[in-house]
Amino acid sequence: MRLSVIGCGYLGAVHAAAMASIGHEVVGIDVDERKIASLSNGEAPFFEPGLQEILSDGLASGRLRFSTDMADAAGAAVHFIGVGTPQQKDGYAADLTYVNAAVDALIPHLAEGDIVAGKSTVPVGTAATLAERVTPTGATLVWNPEFLREGWAVQDTVDPDRLVAGVPAGPEGERAADILREVYHPSVAKNTPFIITDLATAELVKVAANAFLATKISFINAMAEIAEVTGADVTTLADAIGHDARIGRRFLGAGIGFGGGCLPKDIRAFSARAEELGRGESVAFLREVDAINMRRRDRAVDLVVSAFGGSVFKKNITVLGAAFKPHSDDTRDSPALDVAVRLHGLGAWVTVTDPEAIENARRIHPQLNYVEDRDEALRAADAVIVVTEWDEYRRELDPAHAATLTAGRLIVDGRNCLDADAWRAAGWDYRGMGRP
Ligand code: UGA
Repeated sequence: MRLSVIGCGYLGAVHAAAMASIGHEVVGIDVDERKIASLSNGEAPFFEPGLQEILSDGLASGRLRFSTDMADAAGAAVHFIGVGTPQQKDGYAADLTYVNAAVDALIPHLAEGDIVAGKSTVPVGTAATLAERVTPTGATLVWNPEFLREGWAVQDTVDPDRLVAGVPAGPEGERAADILREVYHPSVAKNTPFIITDLATAELVKVAANAFLATKISFINAMAEIAEVTGADVTTLADAIGHDARIGRRFLGAGIGFGGGCLPKDIRAFSARAEELGRGESVAFLREVDAINMRRRDRAVDLVVSAFGGSVFKKNITVLGAAFKPHSDDTRDSPALDVAVRLHGLGAWVTVTDPEAIENARRIHPQLNYVEDRDEALRAADAVIVVTEWDEYRRELDPAHAATLTAGRLIVDGRNCLDADAWRAAGWDYRGMGRP
């Protein structure tokens, strides 16, 4: 099938390349000329495992191309909208500027029978408004939310655990659903659940999923706060409750909390939208979820500061990690980087290292000292704090070896990802999050 993907960021670039990898002819479109030049040259503009390969293969096959010209979308049967919906500068609501601009620019190039499939995360009700603009062209607007995780984006796009599409009622919607089944033919062939629903439900599924995940993380972080005043161990607690299949262990990793380009802004946009709908109280708990999450960053900083008797002024502190999670170079709303910046603000000499995210981190926080090599970064540190659980720190950093590099022996485990016993046995003062 011929497809267009409007917006070539983390979502769109992966979607375009993944759709080409399953046999479609795809054009990816973005207004950012540098991004398009890089993608056209076969260079992934960000780090995402597997993307480089499917990008190169797609370009070589001739099925994948990129353009800054919206006119190149003409002729595609399905046009995916994958542009960003960031938090507004002056409030919690989502900024829909890019979605509106993408749809407006696309409309002149639509033909009777085309499908416009929204993938961006939007406040419920957005699709119905957009449909009013798209329908007069003879095209059909559907909402097809995306659940990919950064770091696993290629796998999640090619082989998702479920597909969801909101379509209009009646034959037009049925036809649109059939076309989407054709698009996602490998998933349909292996009987991946494909939920066809109305526009509002599809939009809500997406924000509800992210709200649930954020709540799960803040729940365990709230338990960490209780553990901290009782001497309990939140890691053991998570293991124990996680054995209950109704609860499950995943997303019960206590630590410095969630960040990134999705969960934080999505729960805020959800609160803002619920308030507009007169149902603010229904999701009032999301404010607590957000507050708990932000407190964990304070806690990590406090652990370091209190270990030094109340001041980190002129202490050398090495921060292991800058990305908001491993397998990603994304530093948007990164708790890791936030902790580093706060320590710097308290007068510490902060050195940050990360296997992939240094370039992005430096761009937003040039005041920090960045060192590529992990061991080099550890040299002469008075304290070390792990804030992104990369294997390079979690598995591959030997505490005895680390001790030969640093000046001090304080290790703060902001992700509860280290073997506390092993670090203590090597002479370190180990401090975890919600652990004795
Ligand atoms: C999230 C959702 O997981 C995806 O399903 C969704 O498609 C995506 O947002 C989106 O809306 O586009 P992502 O932002 O890539 O994906 O990252 P997650 O894996 O959800 O992690 C989010 C944050 O939570 C990270 O900072 C991570 O370190 C943190 N986290 C995760 C914890 O603190 N504890 C955990 O147990 C799990």
